[in-house]
Amino acid sequence: MVVALLVGVAALRGTLDGVPDRDAPAVSPLRPAGDRYAGVAIRADLLDDEGYAELAARAYGAVTPENELKWERTQPERGRYTFDDADRVVDWARSHGMRVRGHALVWHLQNPRWLTDLRPSRRRAIALLRDHIRTVMGHFRGRIHEWDVVNEAVEDDRGALRDTPWLRWIGPEYVDLAFRFAREADPRARLVYNDYGAEQEGTKADGVLRLLRGLKARGVPVDAVGLQGHVSTERLPGFTATLERYAALGLDVLFTEVDVRVPVGGDGAPTGGEAALADQAGRYATLARGCVALPACKGFVVWGVDDADSWVPEAYPGEGAALPFDGDLREKPAYGALRDALAGG
Ligand code: XIL
Repeated sequence: MVVALLVGVAALRGTLDGVPDRDAPAVSPLRPAGDRYAGVAIRADLLDDEGYAELAARAYGAVTPENELKWERTQPERGRYTFDDADRVVDWARSHGMRVRGHALVWHLQNPRWLTDLRPSRRRAIALLRDHIRTVMGHFRGRIHEWDVVNEAVEDDRGALRDTPWLRWIGPEYVDLAFRFAREADPRARLVYNDYGAEQEGTKADGVLRLLRGLKARGVPVDAVGLQGHVSTERLPGFTATLERYAALGLDVLFTEVDVRVPVGGDGAPTGGEAALADQAGRYATLARGCVALPACKGFVVWGVDDADSWVPEAYPGEGAALPFDGDLREKPAYGALRDALAGG
């Protein structure tokens, strides 16, 4: 009777607030070799789902707020800063003994309209950039150990700087300035340049390396390169050698947003069945082994807790099921493969 009542209340709660109640499986946590951390992207709105939150805290040792620190969320109106959602994720993470990565201070996406509609002078744009970085990093000083200061500044085709409002307003120096302002704002935070598609040899990696080499040569305070690691079933030619080229610049290397997408049907399930999941597990292991083999690689972050909440199906129609747990929070082969590979197995 009591049980039935509780179940009834739980079901009602699920329908009332729109948050599904899912149970967290008993998983053994990722324990990466050396001084590395293993993290996961978390969304503030999903923390009410106890299964989601419990699983994340059990499996991972670090957190990246998935959207809560982006410009549209932290400065939705000019000069009005909002940190409630980000604070929620950061406080939750810290109360579970997890470290927090900040993502991202300067990016061409997820900016508020007021910002992208501006036509500021160069001077004014520099002041805006400085205010934002100073205010956001200042708010989280001592609670966020590492920041993606500039995200995706390099274009894919030529490896040149991408055409963004910041490039138009300030010129190429905006990247240098962002890092210098970040160092000023929180001298103890590790500062990261973050990008996608730069895990393997090619024009993109060459462009990212060129940018980073220039930053180092000019004495710009950049500590690490973040490789997002959004991959599919493609090969990653020259993967190990590319990681070594970043490390040779004296930078730490981080995997910051890993997911491995596979073809899915209308129901979101992999069309390749178990073979696809085994292949996916192998790709997670390859990325994790690349990190563990490199002393400079200090962190490995998965972009979401489970397949139901992943950004992939929306961003890549026809693909999905990209995370180590399925939409019912059940462990997939990828999780065990990731755990073994990160442990150095
Ligand atoms: C994605 C989030 O996962 C989505 O929830 C959001 O709608 C769009 O952005 N590269 C990045 C991340 O640096 O910030 C992006 O995150 C995924 C690609």
